[in-house]
Amino acid sequence: MIKYTLTALILKTFSSNKLMQKFYRYIGNTYGQKKRLTNRLPEVYINRIHNFLEMDKKLKLLKDGDSILELGTGWIHWEALKINLFYDVKTVLYDVWDNRQFDAFKHYCFLLSNIFDEEFNLKKEQLNRAHYVLNVIQSSKNFEEIYEKLGWTYLVESSGTLNNLLENSFNIVTSGGVFEHIDKTILEEYIKDIYRILKTGGYSMQSINIGDHLYAYDRKVSKKQYLKYSDKVWKLIFNNKVQYFNRVQKSEWLKLFKLADFKLINDDSVFTNMNSLKINKKYKTLDKSDIECTILRIIHQK
Ligand SMILES: C[S@@+](CC[C@H](N)C(=O)[O-])C[C@H]1O[C@@H](n2cnc3c(N)ncnc32)[C@H](O)[C@@H]1O
Repeated sequence: MIKYTLTALILKTFSSNKLMQKFYRYIGNTYGQKKRLTNRLPEVYINRIHNFLEMDKKLKLLKDGDSILELGTGWIHWEALKINLFYDVKTVLYDVWDNRQFDAFKHYCFLLSNIFDEEFNLKKEQLNRAHYVLNVIQSSKNFEEIYEKLGWTYLVESSGTLNNLLENSFNIVTSGGVFEHIDKTILEEYIKDIYRILKTGGYSMQSINIGDHLYAYDRKVSKKQYLKYSDKVWKLIFNNKVQYFNRVQKSEWLKLFKLADFKLINDDSVFTNMNSLKINKKYKTLDKSDIECTILRIIHQK
């Protein structure tokens, strides 16, 4: 609990003004890239590829020539990569600031290519396509060269809204670990915009990490520790601008997608046992599955 609170206070200090926020981002990115360059390929990234293959087999999500949009593409474009490994698709990579890490991206692709054939039991032509994409990335000198060769476009929109994207443009809009960081006040409009920019029959495919992100710094707390705190305490101590977290729960996400007219096609969420946590009265009306959900993996169709 000490590490949990201390981390929150450090993040709060980094949020105190624009200069400190810039400094946080600079050290976060420099240290983040260094860490990624010495890391093994995270299990969670390998699992996202397995999950995509499983869902594509079940739902026939897309075909070559289609268009996709990755929201909050971050350091290494992983969601876009996992689709491009299997399909030749026009790809837009969207974020609110440029936090790309070229060396880390290449390194993860190198690690992936080493384990790919053994990890994924695929046909020869699928393996060829995946290795072609991974080779393009590894032989490129910068992001621009990769984008040019693979038909990708990188877009930074600091407003964090999707207002400027054209309607009926994409077959898939996807993200991993992003929605929990979007300003709560724009969520309704944001999801309605996803509906607007998707083609009819297109899919919204989101993996939303609603587990407490400070758990990574202190494994002694609950995976949903934040449910313990009132809005007042959360705002005062735990929430911050550099790692903003909206605390929106599973049932609320499902309502927001319904409100935008989406049809739920697949719900493959992840849960944890939470018997010992004392929950704040703000969350008392939630049922057990809502409280215990840590990762929401949902596919909706327009
Ligand atoms: C935890 S990172 C995840 C990065 C990447 N998706 C991954 O899994 O490696 C969250 C990302 O969401 C982005 N983000 C924050 N607000 C956003 C918004 N309104 N729309 C799209 N992306 C946003 C951040 O800039 C950051 O790149």
